[in-house]
Amino acid sequence: MKLQLNNQMNEEIISSYQKDVERINKMINEKSGPGNDYLGWADWPINYDKEELERIKKDAKYVRDNFDILVVCGIGGSYLGARAALEALNGLKSDDKLEVIFMGQTFSPNYVAQVMNYLKDKKFAINVISKSGTTTETSISFRLLKELLEKQVGKEKARKAIYATTDKEKGALKTLCNQEGYSTYVLPSDIGGRYSVLTAVGLFPLAAAGVDIQAMLDGAKEAREAYNSTDLKTNLCYRYAVTRDYMLRHGKPVEMYVTYEPQMSQISEWLKQLFGESEGKEKKGLFPASATFSTDLHSLGQFIQDGTPLLFETIINVINPKQDIKIPHDDEDLDGLNYLEGKDLAFVNQKAFEGTLKAHVEDGKVPCNVIYLDKLDEKTLGHLFYFFMRACAMSAYLLDINPFNQPGVEIYKKNMFRLLGKKGY
Ligand code: PA5
Repeated sequence: MKLQLNNQMNEEIISSYQKDVERINKMINEKSGPGNDYLGWADWPINYDKEELERIKKDAKYVRDNFDILVVCGIGGSYLGARAALEALNGLKSDDKLEVIFMGQTFSPNYVAQVMNYLKDKKFAINVISKSGTTTETSISFRLLKELLEKQVGKEKARKAIYATTDKEKGALKTLCNQEGYSTYVLPSDIGGRYSVLTAVGLFPLAAAGVDIQAMLDGAKEAREAYNSTDLKTNLCYRYAVTRDYMLRHGKPVEMYVTYEPQMSQISEWLKQLFGESEGKEKKGLFPASATFSTDLHSLGQFIQDGTPLLFETIINVINPKQDIKIPHDDEDLDGLNYLEGKDLAFVNQKAFEGTLKAHVEDGKVPCNVIYLDKLDEKTLGHLFYFFMRACAMSAYLLDINPFNQPGVEIYKKNMFRLLGKKGY
């Protein structure tokens, strides 16, 4: 991984953060800052439950060998990481033998009804994921899925096709798991949803989809070692974190995550949740936005180039795609594309990246950070997830914000429950 910071940053600015970075890195390592009981993710790549990992691999293989579909039922941190990794690694038109479908992330009657209809007469297993066990979107979907499965195969067989990821001891889902005897994995109490992608929350569905989860953990372990240093010359994670802070304090309140791969758009969604929910408090924080280029150059591109100058970009550029395709020759050449004959699309995509970067930086004066990845495999992705989680903790602490709570999201729920007539609201 290579990181090129935007042209407003220089070594003097970066080193002015040295003392803060040292103080905060100590807080992360010693678990002494606000939200300190939610720092389990920081050492997770070495502390993860090895026995559970083996069970996850075994159960995932069983699901792969015995079902056509795995329905993953969760929302927010209990959903986005798995979806992001799955799409980034397997692509948007995967022909893997196990189809993974997400449900539980919406109240949309259209979506839920369509998925339920699709599942009729299909052989499916369920992975319900909820730390609290009481999240309304997830609970409604799980109730529907469980009923459908029980109707299809009977209560006994259904029990064996339901896999749950939840808190070790408490919560409504945990109680149900104990009662029904579902295979259960743990979302550790010291890891919050949006920092949980490398726990069973992400790993079980990913393993079921044939992803090498051990390699993901290995990548995260490598990142943990690399980003635990306070050397601001070499620690890319903290160089990125202080750049974010500097941008916010210098008139750029929006960070736009950019990829050139539609299959990475869910990585951007994961990033938006991670940074938005961790930092957006006390009227502070960068607003995380996202775009997929070149698609969005034909929509948002105009604003980015010429509109209100409120944003900076963080581009994730994967140099070598997993697959490539050559542009063919055409005798008539009416579309005038023969000048590209024999060229790979990866070549065209990279030139689009280079041309856009130059336009945005030089003409648009948009500060652009670029993360270069040689390729996007399991190890790189595990590394990347850890890189961003650690950068997020550092960024939030630089703003004196607790990165691990989300007090603001409770308010809409209270209103909604009152309107729905829930007891006690
Ligand atoms: O990051 C978070 O903490 C949230 O996005 C939660 O993951 C989300 O609200 C789902 O919560 P739960 O796992 O309790 O169903």
